[in-house]
Amino acid sequence: TAPELIRNFCIIAHIDHGKSTLADRMLQLTGVVQPRDMRAQYLDRMDIERERGITIKSQAVRMPWAVTGEDGTETPHALHMIDTPGHVDFTYEVSRSLAACEGAVLLVDAAQGIEAQTLANLYLAMENDLEIIPVLNKIDLPAAQPDKYAEELAHLVGGDPSDVLKVSGKTGEGVEALLDKIVATVPAPTGDADAPARAMIFDSVYDTYRGVVTYVRVVDGDLNPRERIVMMSTRAQHELLEIGVHSPDATPTKGLGVGEVGYLITGVKDVRQSKVGDTVTNAHKPADTALAGYDDPKPMVFSGLYPIDGSDYPALREALDKLKLNDAALNYEPETSVALGFGFRVGFLGLLHLEIVRERLEREFNLDLISTAPNVIYDVTMEDGEEVKVTNPSEFPTGKIGEVREPVVRATILTPSEFVGTVMGLCTDRRGQMQGMDYLSEDRVEIRYTLPLAEIVFDFFDQLKSRTRGYASLDYEPSGDQAADLVKVDILLQGDQVDAFSAIVHRDKAYDYGVLMTGKLKEIIPRQQFEVPVQAAIGARVIARETVRAMRKDVLAKCYGGDISRKRKLLEKQKEGKKRMKNIGSVEVPKDAFIAALSSD
Ligand code: GTP
Repeated sequence: TAPELIRNFCIIAHIDHGKSTLADRMLQLTGVVQPRDMRAQYLDRMDIERERGITIKSQAVRMPWAVTGEDGTETPHALHMIDTPGHVDFTYEVSRSLAACEGAVLLVDAAQGIEAQTLANLYLAMENDLEIIPVLNKIDLPAAQPDKYAEELAHLVGGDPSDVLKVSGKTGEGVEALLDKIVATVPAPTGDADAPARAMIFDSVYDTYRGVVTYVRVVDGDLNPRERIVMMSTRAQHELLEIGVHSPDATPTKGLGVGEVGYLITGVKDVRQSKVGDTVTNAHKPADTALAGYDDPKPMVFSGLYPIDGSDYPALREALDKLKLNDAALNYEPETSVALGFGFRVGFLGLLHLEIVRERLEREFNLDLISTAPNVIYDVTMEDGEEVKVTNPSEFPTGKIGEVREPVVRATILTPSEFVGTVMGLCTDRRGQMQGMDYLSEDRVEIRYTLPLAEIVFDFFDQLKSRTRGYASLDYEPSGDQAADLVKVDILLQGDQVDAFSAIVHRDKAYDYGVLMTGKLKEIIPRQQFEVPVQAAIGARVIARETVRAMRKDVLAKCYGGDISRKRKLLEKQKEGKKRMKNIGSVEVPKDAFIAALSSD
């Protein structure tokens, strides 16, 4: 297709504002999905995406759309729609997808108005110089206030409220007009057709049957089947086995030219060889410079993952290896814990990423897992100048510490004005520093804070939602690090440290953590034949203590008389149970107790 007839766009929106539903309608209206094949959220292919109703991996689809000119002639166009993930954890993927487009449909729920990720995504789109088309969705809802929010949206993007399109992804109302507007206002791609090929990778997914499928946007030149291509960041060469477009199913083509968006298959088996953000060029006529660079996604949050049944450890390793083929951001290394046995320390982009990985491991690989409380990375500088990176609290150094640095995020919170005080209270409590505040309209406020990431990963989002009755929304991005007065709190049973419960917390909150954990463990640990002290300590200094009182557990007490076979059965059952016990020093604790202590709040 000639570049003049191509339009590349994406839909950006706050979570649940209806991006996938609108995409479905577009697929239907342009005829690429027949009504009988239609199912909700057509583009969200992973089960877990469909169940949770969220988009995790982006996808690109080609749709034909003819516009009728003033003289009545029809001009067929090719629209490439790039679906983007909507959650903060996946911002890097969003920004790569945006870089593959010239325009963005900024979708806002007409019953909710602008939310935090509406802004975050809008700013990303503006950084990429995209033409923004403001659209209000869900106008069929009785609670919709299209006029009010059209004004808010027009105010935000500049322009007149009457330019804001009003659609319903559900009923299809206004969607044709939107497609026409995309053709009319999104600039056609420009690029040099005769230059050496340059295509940007904006996504890559692992497919069991086809290996890695790499999504690209061609900027200059063209790519053709059977050519040898080069990944510019690694200089690795591959043969192009197949190249094509999704419409929405994979359709091989004779090649991809300037401005086209499609996929390529080289037979590699690992997504790390097709890095998002990298540039693909041609081996026999390579480009000199790559397109604007890419960053390797960096894990922000770490957690220990352990199989509940220790014999599942090899299966867990295999499952992680497989998942990694499809998730370049996943990092892990083996770790052992006194309390939990053999497992892995896994790095994630954020909490949602953690939850999704864990759920996929449990569901797709049939594993029962326990994860330790998530923590961030700390940079510790010792007094003698030695530097230590801590990804597991139990590895926090014990010597003389000079400084501890923790990661910080820049958070944007949008809230109805009545909750401003509440939100500020929560942020202050979490060691936040206010950076600014703006009224977007009379009753909607944007508040900006820097906050330690560690304070956000815990339950910040839940707290924010519950304290604002669900009305506030949050977005954040990494913003360097800061020195902080952090200490490691250990939990001891009978004087022995239980590694899975060590935590790095601010000195002011160490006591609260100690009291909470010792109290919880006291409840959960079964009585032993002797008294067991449960202590929380910073170094050698005990800051909280509980005691599990002694009790003799006589399993035969319930048996009167002389039924010997019954007694034997009970004794054997007790023996079985002991196998699943963990010894912390001389204290026997069922693994279930650790699991309960780690999972309940
Ligand atoms: P993420 O992929 O998680 O970012 O969500 P999304 O923005 O793709 O939202 P999705 O399309 O999954 O829609 C969220 C919810 O809103 C679903 O329950 C939809 O059925 C509903 N919804 C979407 N569009 C409309 C609409 O036009 N009208 C009404 N009434 N409901 C809609």
